Amino acid sequence: MNYKIALIPGDGIGPEVVAETVKVLDKIGEKYGHKFEYTKVLAGGCAIDETGGCLPQETIDICKASGAVLLGAVGGWQWDTLPGDQRPERALLGLRKELGLFANLRPALLFDELADACPLKPEIVEGGLDLVVVRELTGGIYFGEKGFKDTDLGPAAYDIEQYAEEEVRRIAIVAFDMAMKRNKKVTSVDKANVLESSRLWRRIVAEVSVDYPEVTLDNLYIDNATMQMVRNPKQFDVIVTSNIFGDILSDEASMITGSIGMLPSASLAKGNFGMYEPVHGSAPDIAGQNKANPMATILSAAMMLRYTFGLSAEADDIETAVKKVLADGYRTPDLYTEGTKAVGTKEAGDLVTAVIK
Ligand code: NAD
Ligand code: IPM
Ligand code: MN
Repeated sequence: MNYKIALIPGDGIGPEVVAETVKVLDKIGEKYGHKFEYTKVLAGGCAIDETGGCLPQETIDICKASGAVLLGAVGGWQWDTLPGDQRPERALLGLRKELGLFANLRPALLFDELADACPLKPEIVEGGLDLVVVRELTGGIYFGEKGFKDTDLGPAAYDIEQYAEEEVRRIAIVAFDMAMKRNKKVTSVDKANVLESSRLWRRIVAEVSVDYPEVTLDNLYIDNATMQMVRNPKQFDVIVTSNIFGDILSDEASMITGSIGMLPSASLAKGNFGMYEPVHGSAPDIAGQNKANPMATILSAAMMLRYTFGLSAEADDIETAVKKVLADGYRTPDLYTEGTKAVGTKEAGDLVTAVIK
């Protein structure tokens, strides 16, 4: 069968990690008799340089005409001084909004093979870590009214955090559905002791929970949750939270898995459509040096096969291959420790590809 994928390599290490992922996907296609048809499109800083805007209409159209989108990363120092509404990162926000990608799944899984790369004490993560951050992705402070105004203290800027009940309800349903397939625990993270929008959040999550009597619901304030994430991360199963809290908590969770270079994500709309990307950014500090860990993007492609295309065996195959390469001791620089085998981005991609037979 043919599967249409819009490919957005983006900036910095984005093109490097996407190239390795395409190798892996093509090998899966060969093995199972699928054809992955890629249409490469521009978004981010490279789109600004080529077209003047970070998110060309053509990119949106091609994404909409595809089954799924695979994205590397956008952004970089050379565009950091542009006005806010022209920055490369606007492309990501535009894609999320245009494509209706309200549910962002960010699983953090500590592979046994990487236990030594986890910065927490071994007893804290003993037995493995397996949680998923369900981040609301098209609302909150990222998309609320923003602007500039004069105040008593001089010029000021503002960004408004706002949540509609329906926005909270639909992301809560995603979280509870996911918990039903996992360990039946949802932790909702908010700042309901201070924020009105969080009090609404907490009320709606509680309402949704009534339909899931088998699922335990915990509420934590964000400050406590960030502390709990390093004190005892194994207490978490599904974390559901707002756009900005989910952004921060998922980077924190990523480090427990050894490196941000390991964390994949799926951004889902209603139905099967999704955009898949690593949680990390364009890492300008290591771009173009064959140092980036491609595993987060490769694992994002596995999520694409599973969630959008319904190819679970193929997704499992990719995840098993990644584990095998790590078990064999190969490490990109972000994970390298003495006694392991140092490899670059390309070699890591080749190794994963070679394991799939
Ligand atoms: P970053 O995630 O790009 O990098 C943070 C640190 O992690 C850096 O030291 C980097 O070298 C390292 N790192 C990241 N990915 C890695 C990988 N795959 N392998 C090895 N090391 C890796 O975050 P940042 O430095 O805050 O942001 C850089 C740029 O990326 C900014 O322009 C930011 O806006 C953008 N950004 C984009 C996305 C995205 O496109 N989804 C996400 C986050 C940040
Ligand atoms: C992410 C990134 C983005 C976000 C930025 C680049 C807009 O940090 O995908 O985690 O904050 O959502
Ligand atoms: Mn982020």
